[in-house]
Amino acid sequence: MSVEVVCVVGARPNFMKIAPIMAAFRAKPIAAKLVHTGQHYDPSMSDSFFAQLGIPRPDVNLEVGSASHAVQTADIMRAFEPVLDAEKPKAVLVVGDVNSTIACALVAAKKGIQVIHVEAGLRSYDRAMPEEINRVLTDQISDLLFTTERSALDNLKREGIAPERVHFAGNVMIDTLRGHLDRAVPAEVTLGGKPTRGYAVVTLHRPSNVDNADTLRGLLDTLGEVAGHLDVVFPIHPRTRAAAERFGLGGLLERPGMRLLPPQGYLQMLGLTREATLVLTDSGGLQEETTALGVPCITVRENTERPITMTDGTNTLTGPTPEKILACFADIQATGGKRGRVPEFWDGRAAERVADFLRPWLDALPARP
Ligand code: UD1
Repeated sequence: MSVEVVCVVGARPNFMKIAPIMAAFRAKPIAAKLVHTGQHYDPSMSDSFFAQLGIPRPDVNLEVGSASHAVQTADIMRAFEPVLDAEKPKAVLVVGDVNSTIACALVAAKKGIQVIHVEAGLRSYDRAMPEEINRVLTDQISDLLFTTERSALDNLKREGIAPERVHFAGNVMIDTLRGHLDRAVPAEVTLGGKPTRGYAVVTLHRPSNVDNADTLRGLLDTLGEVAGHLDVVFPIHPRTRAAAERFGLGGLLERPGMRLLPPQGYLQMLGLTREATLVLTDSGGLQEETTALGVPCITVRENTERPITMTDGTNTLTGPTPEKILACFADIQATGGKRGRVPEFWDGRAAERVADFLRPWLDALPARP
């Protein structure tokens, strides 16, 4: 059977989104090939996720690696085009909002190949975020857009995207979470012993938080204060570690109660998050995972493209301002934080809904010459 859909992954947050889609495609069946752009390449940022999530080995790895945004995006585009020439798929499926997402969507759109975007329509309305640019542009050139929350359709309509192209499928990343909860590695194992007090899980990697010395110093100082009350479990992104060293802030990572870890595997992170007193993060995905798990989340950003995590879930935005973070932390300590509820269609069956829609949709497309 010739390839119907080329699926693309590139960076860590893509892997948990593609895993249930590839599984649903196998079940349908939909003939798919998987391309890894190589945007993330360290074993801890890439290979471990394939192994833990049972994602098939990529059929092609473009091995682009790290570079400036322009060079990385251009390298992905140059390397991806020959793959489409060889495979002649009916459609290219991209997920999320990383540079690999826009790069591959753009190549496909220019070649007249249908573009499917899973996790479409999320908007922070903050163009200083590289991901926001990737989201807006990918959605503009997508033929079929699957959304995770209902607010996304309003965002897309405002940008002139025809509602007939938009389908509310739910959250594929939460499919992966639900499917792996029983295999999550207990925190005790990852931490090498039972924590004697509660702990906060921290992740930080956004350029706006870690690439500015004053902002990063403020955040690390605040973590030091939190560590006076709870252990601070901090799996540190390579970008953040490099920034702390560059700015001479390494000492702030060593304060009592701070437990630095290398980037964690999916099952380790899931176990850590599930058992945490709270999560403090600037990640997009963790805002959703904490809402699905009912764990309070402090998001150290001024905005979120995932508003349902605030309105329905456990998320609170504080920005990187120490006083606001500490006030929110005190509130969680006093009250246990927001309880929240699990949003609509975050039920473990989103990828199935995507595949159910795609099967007849693909059948109706003409074969490519
Ligand atoms: C990317 C995504 C971001 C996502 C994040 C998750 C874009 C624009 N950003 O950001 O949306 O939340 O992934 O991690 O696509 N590095 C390594 N090893 C790796 C990969 C990166 O050491 O395997 C280092 C390199 O020094 C690199 C830096 O991390 O320059 C940043 O990597 P990059 O892929 O450019 O962006 P992220 O910050 O990871």
